[in-house]
Amino acid sequence: MEKGRTRVDLFEYQARDLFAKHGVPVLAGEVIDTPEGAREATERLGGRSVVKAQVKVGGRGKAGGVKLASDPADAVEKAGQILGMDIKGHTVHKVMIAETAPEIAEEYYVSYLLDRTNRTFLAMASVAGGMDIEEVAATTPEKLAKVPVDANEGVTIEKAREIVAQAKFPAEVAEQVAEILVTLWKTFVAEDALLVEVNPLAKVADGRVIALDGKVSLDANAEFRQPEHEALEDKAAADPLEAAAKAKGLNYVKLDGQVGIIGNGAGLVMSTLDVVAYAGENHGGVKPANFLDIGGGASAEVMANGLEIILGDPDVKSVFVNVFGGITACDAVANGIVQALQLLEAKGEKVEKPLVVRLDGNNAELGRKILNDADHPLVQQVDTMDGAAERAAELAAK
Ligand SMILES: Nc1ncnc2c1ncn2[C@@H]1O[C@H](COP(=O)(O)OP(=O)(O)OP(=O)(O)O)[C@@H](O)[C@H]1O
Ligand SMILES: [Mg+2]
Repeated sequence: MEKGRTRVDLFEYQARDLFAKHGVPVLAGEVIDTPEGAREATERLGGRSVVKAQVKVGGRGKAGGVKLASDPADAVEKAGQILGMDIKGHTVHKVMIAETAPEIAEEYYVSYLLDRTNRTFLAMASVAGGMDIEEVAATTPEKLAKVPVDANEGVTIEKAREIVAQAKFPAEVAEQVAEILVTLWKTFVAEDALLVEVNPLAKVADGRVIALDGKVSLDANAEFRQPEHEALEDKAAADPLEAAAKAKGLNYVKLDGQVGIIGNGAGLVMSTLDVVAYAGENHGGVKPANFLDIGGGASAEVMANGLEIILGDPDVKSVFVNVFGGITACDAVANGIVQALQLLEAKGEKVEKPLVVRLDGNNAELGRKILNDADHPLVQQVDTMDGAAERAAELAAK
């Protein structure tokens, strides 16, 4: 639950960097975010380059997101065309200026992935690589070799040769491809990846085999042992509410419903999600909009931060604050809610969505009295969890 996601997909340039780190042969490349940046980068590459859109979606080449530049001025122009382009709903904010490969003779495909259904790792390889590997897989599956890889044995050079043989790579590249398969396996394991893919793995005019495009998905659950991976995450593209919550130190996960949820304690919040989803079935299918656990402390400030995130979610139509008083008793939480609303209003943030509050546990009576006395027009109290969920769902459906 911690971050609400299990995999981190990388941009091509990031995949390229990881490949380089583990010895997979790649070409030089620099990432830039203004057209003018393409000039110097292209000069550094000897005057020619390939301008490549960096978006996390396939089919960039066909969409016009990969262009050859014949000189630095041409690279500036091509970068200008590609930056800002929309590729299948993804706006291009960065381009990679890549070294131009010598003339490409053949394009192959290789990848490793975690095959969850068969509980194994899988190597896939094909001599029919390039832009249409999905089509190869669909129409001529015999051209895509699939070889299970035992996690304990990994990909030794012998195993790599077996993959190469099954995919029927030509003899003159077989040993090079086998060596690349070994380094690619090292990348897969050392980086805790769920997928590493090279397409195309190109045989170029001088006989070399080079990774010209790469895709890597990292396992987010391995982050604790991969401190360098945090820098690879695309903060801007992650949900902006999640990013804002993270910046405030809140344990928040965006969901796709309409009832904002705040609770203290992960277990309580989880069951709150369930009762709201259940109640929502009687109200046009409204659902919880988020997971937010403000923890045991629940000070006014934490409450204000939490409310600010939730009220800032345009999908939220009502908020359910579900608190079980423990070490921090309900009277403190009630004061926190009252102060949080004052804090938000003082900051000029109009609170316009109804809040349903349910207080139970330690000092619940006192907490309820504090809220009654404050008499905020948007706050209503319901004493039971099911009743409060029902009310919040009803308000969200209005
Ligand atoms: N550095 C390079 N030098 C020369 N040609 C390149 C280079 N990079 C890519 N190409 C050519 O452009 C084609 C498309 O590039 P690439 O594979 O990176 O994009 P794509 O396949 O369209 O994108 P995606 O993998 O996101 O679907 C390659 O198959 C290759 O022929
Ligand atoms: Mg590609």
